[in-house]
Amino acid sequence: MKTGVETLILPAGVAGAEAAARTLAAGGLVAFPTETVYGLGADAANATAIAHLYAAKGRPAFNPLIAHVAGLSAAQRIGRFDARALKLAEAFWPGPLTLVVPKTEGCPVADLATAGLDTVAIRIPAHPVAQAILRAFGGAVVAPSANISGHVSPTLAAHVESDLSGRIDLIVDGGPVTVGVESTIIGCFETAMLLRPGGLSRERIEAVLGASLVRPTAEGESDDSQPLAPGMLASHYAPRAPVRLNAQEVAPGEALLGFGPARLPGMEAAAAVMNLSPTGDLDEAAANLFGYLRSLDAKGTRTIAVMTIPEEGLGEAINDRLRRAAVAR
Ligand code: TXA
Ligand code: MG
Repeated sequence: MKTGVETLILPAGVAGAEAAARTLAAGGLVAFPTETVYGLGADAANATAIAHLYAAKGRPAFNPLIAHVAGLSAAQRIGRFDARALKLAEAFWPGPLTLVVPKTEGCPVADLATAGLDTVAIRIPAHPVAQAILRAFGGAVVAPSANISGHVSPTLAAHVESDLSGRIDLIVDGGPVTVGVESTIIGCFETAMLLRPGGLSRERIEAVLGASLVRPTAEGESDDSQPLAPGMLASHYAPRAPVRLNAQEVAPGEALLGFGPARLPGMEAAAAVMNLSPTGDLDEAAANLFGYLRSLDAKGTRTIAVMTIPEEGLGEAINDRLRRAAVAR
């Protein structure tokens, strides 16, 4: 592992993008904003850099990475897009969508990044800072969320710094992200599968496909040795404090993560209260989710009680992350 690395923090901009591109080309690790969460990037063709990336995050090497590129022609050098995959790419890229497709012959992404699979996960992010870095670098960049494996994903440069300072070379600070949960991952298999709910709602994807998306089976989920998507590792996105879902009341000393205008019995005695969206807006709630979990955790709260959140739109991704945060470790 690369420890004792001096982590440089630069503001986004031309100099930041150029420094990022140089660092990536030299095999270094660069954290940068995408519209979903901050990613930790490495040159997708450099196996040594990717090994450093897994070590810096403490991530199991059987959990494959997403290759990020600036445009569709670069994506098509990495993966094979059938008509259905192309339709999704054209409808939603650049944006918070990742497509899992078969690798091309001579796919430049190192086998270590794809965990030896014959498929590859690809994303074109929309964030202007991510786009500038990808264009300046020229190649594909593998980037998991820029947090210690199992922690809450970072939505601010400060979150990256607190998890990874001293383990990575550069953080490009582009301010808070807008979407706040990771990309939706679609497996372009015989049937299109929703491998991970995320920042693009199921409803919008199904409207373009004209078909409903299938979730992987429970057997696939419990098989930790070959997760279909690592969001599939049971405990994930975990704050230190235990998380209690669908709270109908607040116990003394608990913190409350609220949603919508309703009030709960016991709320006045809560250790802390943060509301993901007082008006009940699921997009706003997604943007606030990880930052609020980090804030409540930082207060040393005993338990985080969470109000019920509707399972529609980005609520599917929010509830997915909260269920994983609630799994006892
Ligand atoms: O929004 C995002 O997707 C962020 C930003 C940085 O782009 N990235 C992100 O990466 O969330 P990560 O590594 O935390 O999650 C990548 C997911 C994992 O669940 C992994 O199992 C899945 O993508 N994945 C990667 N390659 C795959 C493949 N060939 N087949 C199935 N799942 C794959
Ligand atoms: Mg992650």
